[in-house]
Amino acid sequence: MCGIVGYVGRRQAVEVAIEGLGRLEYRGYDSSGIALIGADRALTVEKRAGKLVNLRSVLAARPAPPATAGIGHTRWATHGAPTDRNAHPHTDCEERIAVIHNGIIENFAELRAELENDGHKLASETDTEVVAHLLERFAGDGLAEAMRRVCRRLEGAFTLLAVSVDEPDVVVGARRNSPLVVGRGEGENFLGSDVAAFIAYTREAVELGQDQVVELRTSGITVTDFHGAPAETRDYHVDWDASAAEKGGHDYFMLKEIAEQPRAVADTLLGRVGADGQLMLDEMRLSDQELRDVNKIIVVACGTSYHAGLIAKYAIEHWAGVPCEVELASEFRYRDPILTRDTLIIVITQSGETMDTLMAVRHAREQRSRVLAVCNVNGSTIPRESDAVLYTHAGPEIAVASTKAFLTQLVACYLVALYLAQVRGTKFGDEISQIIDWLGRMPAKVEEVLGTVEPVRALARSLAAERCVLFLGRHVGFPVALEGALKLKELAYMHAEGFAAGELKHGPIALIDEGLPVVVIVPSPAGQRVIHDKIVSNIQEIRARGAKTIVIAEEGDDAVVPYADTLIRVPAVPTLLQPLIATVPLQVFACELAAAKGHDVDQPRNLAKSVTVE
Ligand code: G6P
Repeated sequence: MCGIVGYVGRRQAVEVAIEGLGRLEYRGYDSSGIALIGADRALTVEKRAGKLVNLRSVLAARPAPPATAGIGHTRWATHGAPTDRNAHPHTDCEERIAVIHNGIIENFAELRAELENDGHKLASETDTEVVAHLLERFAGDGLAEAMRRVCRRLEGAFTLLAVSVDEPDVVVGARRNSPLVVGRGEGENFLGSDVAAFIAYTREAVELGQDQVVELRTSGITVTDFHGAPAETRDYHVDWDASAAEKGGHDYFMLKEIAEQPRAVADTLLGRVGADGQLMLDEMRLSDQELRDVNKIIVVACGTSYHAGLIAKYAIEHWAGVPCEVELASEFRYRDPILTRDTLIIVITQSGETMDTLMAVRHAREQRSRVLAVCNVNGSTIPRESDAVLYTHAGPEIAVASTKAFLTQLVACYLVALYLAQVRGTKFGDEISQIIDWLGRMPAKVEEVLGTVEPVRALARSLAAERCVLFLGRHVGFPVALEGALKLKELAYMHAEGFAAGELKHGPIALIDEGLPVVVIVPSPAGQRVIHDKIVSNIQEIRARGAKTIVIAEEGDDAVVPYADTLIRVPAVPTLLQPLIATVPLQVFACELAAAKGHDVDQPRNLAKSVTVE
């Protein structure tokens, strides 16, 4: 949700900014813009509505003057339509200061009225522009001090970067509740919404805390709180490089990320299973006694991560025997959940920045519950604010629609459930080792599925003219159905719904019409036979009413054959692990269908990968 990049050093700042924005565009693509301070202390601002390509064209026709300090922004619009005028950067009345912003300044209306009263002329409809004018008011104090004074006046969530002609070799940044990391180079320094912004130049990063202001110079970085007191930061090394954030020969990031899933699943398991088959999850940072005392688990997440949570519930209750609820972060935060010291909150988040989830973390910790984050991005806000973190090792996920992060979240949740079972003694050791053994085989199984998805592609292309697709599942197949439908909505902009197959007869069956495509995820007949048989009956019910049935079933499951218009085979695996393989054809299906419709697969309309507003 808005990408931000800042640079000071010896390179041409315009190149660094545009390169960084290219890697951050997944965060928002309503407009983009840059501000540069040249050696002659002149401020250059270029900005354009639409994707980054529009800004690139402007810069190709009218190259930016040389400058070694600058900022860049790619926008996901909140206040004000996605026009040239509302694009960031925004400037003060004298056009000496330029500002970019991610987040929402909640008291902007009041500040705007105050500034207009003082004679400031505001040119846009954004909440951001007030910051440029407030900085102008305090400009005599120096940019960093002005930023601290401004931040003390702001309410809401913000990452801000500013440059000023008065300090041509400085970029100042500030953050509250929105992401900002520093990249440390040699004789050059960077700022970014995440490390992707500067990964082409350095892998040394500095994590900033809440309510901090950073002053970036070629000679170093200075970090303070909003009152000027020196602040603590944490340095870390990024364990992936620029090539991981490139398409690597694939047409889309999404296809690349789908293909990376076997490796991602394997990496998430790595180092967590001891030679004796025992799980080692020291990262949970809870003693065995504390784990035994847990009497309720609430999984909290948004979007695809929420679907991973729904699947986690089945695993946690089955293996660990702990009651488990799953809740959307945006709902959890604004009701009165019953939380105690013995409630374990598991938040699942790819980015570690989702505002709804962050607010849920804070809410839970205020009630003294312990929070375990399952997260993919090192150095992000949610792990920092949680009691413990279990990192998934999916690597950078660039496509807005989540794929490999989802599979690795499932693996992390399975590990948590099995670890709880191990510590609490709810399953025999050999049952746990058997399932861990199965987990170890899952990368190969996912690979096997990837090798057989060509017919799924053809099917997707044949359905490009459809207006609606339904997805049905039971047990863990139900969240898989929800995820399949979400992928189709996100990418193909089609009406798609996932239902629990048992609910069909309570309403959704009225939607079934001649020729309506319905995808059904069939659980293993070797698992709970009764669930399998009931869903086979459901397939017959919808087929009798004219549905075009697309059935995902395991190898050797012959019971489905007579009722499947299209049959997608997946390898046989234990029921609880089936989502790891049944989701893959649905990802490919949505991706291919969107491509067939001519949509931008990696950057679907209206969406952003990291949603840092509530
Ligand atoms: C956005 C993304 C989704 C993602 C959700 C939660 O809506 O478009 O793909 O599932 O946020 O994000 P998180 O980073 O918390 O997993």
